[in-house]
Amino acid sequence: MAVTINTLRDFKKNGEAFSALTAYDAAFSHVVSEAGVDVILVGDSLGMVLQGHDSTLPVTMEQMCYHVRSVARGNQGALIMADMPFMSYATLPTALENAAELMRSGAHMVKLEGTDWMAETISALSERGIPVCAHLGLTPQFVNKLGGYRIQGREEKQAEQMIDHACQLEAAGADVILLECVPAPLAARITQAVRAPVIGIGAGADTDGQVLVLHDMLGITPGRRPRFVKNFLAEADSVQDAIAAYVEAVKKRTFPSEEHTFKA
Ligand code: KIV
Repeated sequence: MAVTINTLRDFKKNGEAFSALTAYDAAFSHVVSEAGVDVILVGDSLGMVLQGHDSTLPVTMEQMCYHVRSVARGNQGALIMADMPFMSYATLPTALENAAELMRSGAHMVKLEGTDWMAETISALSERGIPVCAHLGLTPQFVNKLGGYRIQGREEKQAEQMIDHACQLEAAGADVILLECVPAPLAARITQAVRAPVIGIGAGADTDGQVLVLHDMLGITPGRRPRFVKNFLAEADSVQDAIAAYVEAVKKRTFPSEEHTFKA
């Protein structure tokens, strides 16, 4: 049966962890969804992973729609979440237009990065039937403002503010919250503070779901592996087995373990 936003809400209600992975093409979309991954994220990480850029900023709407259409063709029932690329939601009319284009391409939900100032946009999208995931913590489109890819919410004031932003964005209509690179205790507080399902990456084991970049968990991303990533292919015989092992580890909450977690 196809995964919907209600499936994710039920997972949260029942305390069952769910899995998400990025995919950018039909072949991997098929493999990932066949393996039982609940959410496929067509992330703008494709700018780094597929295109070799050093940030997600060069990714365009045209490219995102191309990849969403490819993923939709291979999908076997996962919920498809599509990133809105850099500046594609800078104004309300642009956000509405571009989110609609991603939905027409086959997405079931859009994801955007930003804090309380995104509330109006999220309300407008939500009111018009577009489910939204609000991405908080390390927001890669803000890398130049953040001064690098670094853990967020370490100080109590920043942590309190992130909890407040998550609550505000949920109240505005966000259906899912995604937390990237935040200390595990803060991610746990946010997960408890909101009714919306919370997906974590580098956010510890206590969020409702987990997401990783596919190429990272297959160990084929060049360069240093971030602390929160596990190479599941290292102990598997095939890509399919590696993804199945990830799904199982997330369901059993054996991933992420302490070694993949920022404690503070
Ligand atoms: O673009 C992406 O793949 C993402 C994940 C890192 C969460 O946003």
